[in-house]
Amino acid sequence: MHISIDISQVLSFLPEESLELIRPKIEKAWGTLLSGTGAGSDFLGWVRLPSQTNPEVLTRIQEHAARIREIADVFVVIGIGGSYLGSRAVIEALSTSFPALIRKDKTPVVLFAGENLSEDYHADILQVLDKYSCAVAIISKSGTTTEPAVAFRLIKQKLERKYGRKGSCERIIAITDASRGALKEIADTEGYESYVIPDDIGGRYSLLTPVGLLPVAVAGLDIEKLIDGAAEMERVACKSPDFNLNPATLYAAVRNLLYQEGKQIEIMVTYQPNLVMLTEWWKQLYGESEGKEGKGIFPAGVTFTADLHSMGQFIQEGTRNLFETVLSVDRSNQELLVPNDPEDNDGLNFLTGKSLSEVNHRAETGTRLAHVAGGVPNIRISIPCLDAYHLGQLLYFYEFACGVSGYTLGVNPFDQPGVEAYKRKMFELLGKPGF
Ligand code: PA5
Repeated sequence: MHISIDISQVLSFLPEESLELIRPKIEKAWGTLLSGTGAGSDFLGWVRLPSQTNPEVLTRIQEHAARIREIADVFVVIGIGGSYLGSRAVIEALSTSFPALIRKDKTPVVLFAGENLSEDYHADILQVLDKYSCAVAIISKSGTTTEPAVAFRLIKQKLERKYGRKGSCERIIAITDASRGALKEIADTEGYESYVIPDDIGGRYSLLTPVGLLPVAVAGLDIEKLIDGAAEMERVACKSPDFNLNPATLYAAVRNLLYQEGKQIEIMVTYQPNLVMLTEWWKQLYGESEGKEGKGIFPAGVTFTADLHSMGQFIQEGTRNLFETVLSVDRSNQELLVPNDPEDNDGLNFLTGKSLSEVNHRAETGTRLAHVAGGVPNIRISIPCLDAYHLGQLLYFYEFACGVSGYTLGVNPFDQPGVEAYKRKMFELLGKPGF
């Protein structure tokens, strides 16, 4: 296990002995999660998913992805919430920063649709589909969510005009519920190749099912390593609730303690722009799991050092209801040293020979010291590098910690009743029958 968590810059913000005081509550929440005796226990299929993933499923996905890579320059993933955030997070974290310009092998550019209702955005997607060979995955557990359904209607018609109904059938993949929903019916009628989202896995915990794995495999990334990493973290997280052995229970404990001290906003901090979507995935996971019954920590995100020049002022000196959780990556995948300049007109020769990574880490340490001094507790989670194996560990770590944290808070971490409210109002305004 390679993920580590450092809480040394939190303890001075907590009453003495508080970690010991919350320990029984965390152990109870951990036991509730593993025994399946808590609220939402019908949705615990993700807990043992990594270790129980059938290698044949991975082979099927990899072979299918290879076929898509042969026929498509562009792969469009249609979905919203848990049906797209995870795959987008992994693809952006592990791919080149400029996939449209630095293309590896025959990797299609992966685009996302149906996660918004913007007319301009979707008109642009349709233009792309006119120009490039393409394939599409429509992903929706319920099979009835409006945003992806609208995008799919548009994109399906575009593909059918371009490739014919039979031709487009080979380019469309449906990932949905085993038996319910409009998407299931369309997929059966049209004969799309389909994957099932298990009944006992909710949207935001579905990243390691075909929901996330197929797009990630199409992007040319190693889904076996992703699952291996997650399985390693599953082994650790499920073995013992002891804070010294289990980073997930420690994270759950500390964030609940900070919440009790009035820290109502958690800011996930990264120093890598390719982790912006990972932050978005984490925001959904924690926001939807914990924000209910008038309770919960509001999950926010920043990317430093960019946001030190926008949000840094507030974090340093604004309302003191924040804490930060820094996700730190120890090693870069590529090396870039600051070159010497004999003229030194920019005064930067003091950095000559240093890697950008070293400069970035100094920025991280300096910011941490400044923010802690300014009254912002700081949790630090670190991973050795950004590869599929360690990312798999991290994803499972966040999922497991979320389950324990939600039960500790006293909510059902596996439902999202509040998401329905806006839909009812929107349908009413749009004149949907029955609303
Ligand atoms: O976590 C969840 O369950 C939700 O955020 C869903 O992922 C989201 O609402 C999309 O739902 P569906 O996959 O049914 O289209």
